[in-house]
Amino acid sequence: MAFTIAIDGPAAAGKGTIGRALAAHFGFAHLDTGLLYRATGRKMLQGLDPVAAARSLRAEDLLADDLRSSEVGQAASRVAAIPEVRQALLDFQRAFARRTGGAVLDGRDIGTVICPEAEVKFFVTASDAERARRRHLELSEKDPRLTLKEVVEDLRQRDARDSARATAPLRPAKDALLLDTSEMTIEEAVATAVAEVEGRRGA
Ligand code: DC
Repeated sequence: MAFTIAIDGPAAAGKGTIGRALAAHFGFAHLDTGLLYRATGRKMLQGLDPVAAARSLRAEDLLADDLRSSEVGQAASRVAAIPEVRQALLDFQRAFARRTGGAVLDGRDIGTVICPEAEVKFFVTASDAERARRRHLELSEKDPRLTLKEVVEDLRQRDARDSARATAPLRPAKDALLLDTSEMTIEEAVATAVAEVEGRRGA
């Protein structure tokens, strides 16, 4: 039986952490859809045409160890504004969402475009300062020279681009549950999400 949990929201709000925890809790498959755009953006940085790159993406492209960098994140946000790139990645995401056994997908357009019929939708947010603090903590492990100011600017640029684009812009689905994680621990955010899904599964 298909059961889809759609998680959308701006960068570094906690979507991935909540998505992975929900998938583990319910035994569902998890797809971080940002990785599809990051892998496409990475290929563009290597000189490939982004549409051709998206059309020829393979599973191993999602394993490159520099996919999480700010540079690749910016490239991802740029290729994500190209309608043909989004189209090329659509069928894979839709099939994943409706796979037997349940699926959790996190991204920007899961509840609005990829799977409007998802059984549960979350729109995860956190304050700009908290998102920047978390992302800086994560990225500075690999790049100790990265400043908080650079991370703030990076998130601001990406969120503005992701929200303003014409195709599948970042916005909450009408029926999404808003989850502001600014003041929550990871455990609290996950417990809130689990309780919500359990409520809907029983419904
Ligand atoms: O979730 P992330 O930060 O890894 O995503 C990287 C970029 O990919 C993000 O800035 C916008 C784009 N993206 C998108 O447009 N749609 C998605 N479903 C997921 C990511």
